Amino acid sequence: MLCLTVFRYCWLIVKYSSHVSAEKSDVPADWPRSGCISYSNVTLKISPNEESVITEANFTVSSGDKFGICGAAGSGKSTLIMGLARVSDVSHGKVIIDGLDITDIPTNIICSRLTIITQDAAVLHQTVRFNLCPDGAKSDAELWKVLETVELKDVVETFPGKLDQVISEEHINSTEKQQLILAYALLRESSIVVLDDVIRPENNTIRCVLDKLFCQNWKQTTVIIVTNQADFLLTTTQTLVLESGRIIEQGQPAAMVKNRSPFFPPVNLP
Ligand SMILES: *[C@@H]1O[C@H](CO)[C@@H](O)[C@H](O)[C@H]1NC(C)=O
Ligand SMILES: *[C@@H]1O[C@H](CO)[C@@H](O)[C@H](O)[C@H]1NC(C)=O
Ligand SMILES: *[C@@H]1O[C@H](CO)[C@@H](O)[C@H](O)[C@H]1NC(C)=O
Ligand SMILES: *[C@@H]1O[C@H](CO)[C@@H](O)[C@H](O)[C@H]1NC(C)=O
Repeated sequence: MLCLTVFRYCWLIVKYSSHVSAEKSDVPADWPRSGCISYSNVTLKISPNEESVITEANFTVSSGDKFGICGAAGSGKSTLIMGLARVSDVSHGKVIIDGLDITDIPTNIICSRLTIITQDAAVLHQTVRFNLCPDGAKSDAELWKVLETVELKDVVETFPGKLDQVISEEHINSTEKQQLILAYALLRESSIVVLDDVIRPENNTIRCVLDKLFCQNWKQTTVIIVTNQADFLLTTTQTLVLESGRIIEQGQPAAMVKNRSPFFPPVNLP
């Protein structure tokens, strides 16, 4: 599933980025170790000749933060995030990840070190094993362990072929697809995980899994969630609100609700 997504990103980078040929590659093997991200005065464009989609964005994501990004459709949420993978052109300002300016980092390295899952992530018509770990680098025990973590083990155990069962979008429902995506993301063990509108809670399953990941498996991991689900935003440590490519509000989501921010997505209080 998601190798396709990463591939798509890289293809877009090659297509749109102007700095591909000028890359050097002295990136430390463990970069980005702690997962700090800072945007300073960043203006982003999808391609050099287009108008800016993001204007003068300033924000910092600390190591281990659970960081929410919300805003209406077309406000630039995905573009802001694509700036991390250099799919959007940084035309002014700097994006720094763990001390390195990303314009100095080869695109394939960014794609391989960060886990960025886009909204069009698909389940490939392939085995469960392949969908979880396309490079085959993980043992069966590790695969079962993450399946258990995301509460998908019972489902895969009912498949005749178990991990070797060929699946596709028809075989699993949308909740299971999200669980599979989270399992894939877990296996990549990146210090930065970006979930661009991939998490949609039909009911409590995904919410419970995500809560568990935030306080256990991803406790030290920087996780950026792009979503307009107030429920999910309230589980983040910080949230920013975008409007027409500008950050109009930023802070702790609970405080935004308390201060009756008009920008924060409506919360269904019990
Ligand atoms: C911020 O970026 C804008 C262009 O988008 C530029 O005009 C301005 O000088 C920059 N500010 C600083 C402090 O660099
Ligand atoms: C972001 O920071 C830069 C430099 O400090 C500043 O010039 C710019 O106005 C800031 N952007 C916004 C939207 O406040
Ligand atoms: C998805 O399928 C599982 C069983 O395989 C079921 O428990 C769950 O309720 C289904 N979820 C949705 C949203 O249909
Ligand atoms: C989620 O919804 C499905 C039905 O669509 C149900 O079978 C499952 O038990 C629900 N999970 C939770 C935790 O509510």
